[in-house]
Amino acid sequence: MRAGTAYWGIWDLSRSTPPPAEAGFAPGRAKRVSHRTRDGRRPQPSRVRWQRDGRGVAMGASGQLGVGVVGYGYAGRAFHCYLASLERPHGLELRAVATRDPERQARARRDHPGARVHATLDDMLRDDAVELVVLATPHDTHRDLAVRALAAGRHVVVDKVMCLNLAEADVMIEAAERAGRLLTVFHNRRWDWDYLTVRDVLARGWLGAPYLFESTVFGYGEPRGWRACRAQGGGILYDWGAHLVDQALQLVPGPVGRVECVTQSRRWSQSDAGSYARLSLHFENGVLFVVEVGNLARRAKPRWYVLGEEGALVRQARDPQEPFLNRRAIDAVTEPPGERAVVHTVRDGLAVEAAVDTVRGSWRAFYQNVADAALRGAPLAVAPREVRRAIAVFDAAEAASRTGLPVRPAGE
Ligand SMILES: NC(=O)c1ccc[n+]([C@@H]2O[C@H](COP(=O)([O-])OP(=O)(O)OC[C@H]3O[C@@H](n4cnc5c(N)ncnc54)[C@H](OP(=O)(O)O)[C@@H]3O)[C@@H](O)[C@H]2O)c1
Repeated sequence: MRAGTAYWGIWDLSRSTPPPAEAGFAPGRAKRVSHRTRDGRRPQPSRVRWQRDGRGVAMGASGQLGVGVVGYGYAGRAFHCYLASLERPHGLELRAVATRDPERQARARRDHPGARVHATLDDMLRDDAVELVVLATPHDTHRDLAVRALAAGRHVVVDKVMCLNLAEADVMIEAAERAGRLLTVFHNRRWDWDYLTVRDVLARGWLGAPYLFESTVFGYGEPRGWRACRAQGGGILYDWGAHLVDQALQLVPGPVGRVECVTQSRRWSQSDAGSYARLSLHFENGVLFVVEVGNLARRAKPRWYVLGEEGALVRQARDPQEPFLNRRAIDAVTEPPGERAVVHTVRDGLAVEAAVDTVRGSWRAFYQNVADAALRGAPLAVAPREVRRAIAVFDAAEAASRTGLPVRPAGE
């Protein structure tokens, strides 16, 4: 359907009742936190322990939670320093950046004159002003850096993918529980417009019972730096795939019975990360969720193709937030009307093809929730044990891709 086509049928669909809150589909709804200290208690919000806590950090003593971002590459700069500095009114204050690179250090000083610039995480951990450490570093560093920051009494946000395997996830969760500090993963794409819209359409019942999801991100270009190296990045599935698997586990209820995985490595001679991966999650309730990622695709597929017993949804476009984030204008995000998801179904005997209103999330919600969790005891929106489940899917995918056989993820 081209932009400008008359979307007849939209009125009919739009009058359906909104999803009940208890259905668990409301955009941005926080999940119950599963974070516990060793003796089973919830860690106390920082606000109730203003005094130094024995580890040399006065948590939230100023009424603001001091944030330190490790890594001043793309994510550290464009995502974390920017988003954390927006949430001052919510209780976050960007106080430090760590990067070993002198040019990046100079840039961080220019960009954030109020923040101290350190060379390493260890230097940052000697800085009492930092109470929450954000890791915007390659995937193979996440476990060790997170464990060090937690052991030093800091809360930790780690960018996706949480880590490279289940053993690493367990070490990180254990470290957080031992320290009584929060650990969460930057799954910003739980607030993506395309994903929230799919969730909303499902909750409204417009597709009937869903049975097939195809969730795809394709591009064309050789991976560079640590992403090109499987030992550092984990391979092609661990980049965009981390978001797509997380969304799959959020969208479809119940256990994953088995996964199948096919990967290919072509063309890119400087990389062993792979050029294509297709991961099929067979849920026990019969739903098939197919995640596809590729860096050797001259033409993209739709971002979403969803079939239910009563209808189909197609959305070509990805979430629109990233270009606005890069212009430091996250509050000004818009998308052309032609990028809306289109639902195909039958109503009262009439075939309906309707562009549906997009549900607009904001990546700001992630850090707002972190502030609420650390300072006011709210449940974490992205609980580490939820993400551990995704890491179990990745372990199973690795085994399935190696053997060519279906594998049931651990713990399902
Ligand atoms: N959620 C999203 O939408 C999204 C988007 C993009 C990236 N990411 C994630 O963000 C993370 C970083 O990706 P990126 O694109 O920002 O990578 P990048 O541009 O290559 O930057 C990586 C940063 O990590 C630092 N670093 C590298 N190795 C390190 C080590 N051993 N110890 C400490 N610091 C180290 C780098 O070095 P220096 O010390 O030299 O500065 C650099 O500042 C990854 O987990 C990635 O998946 C997420």
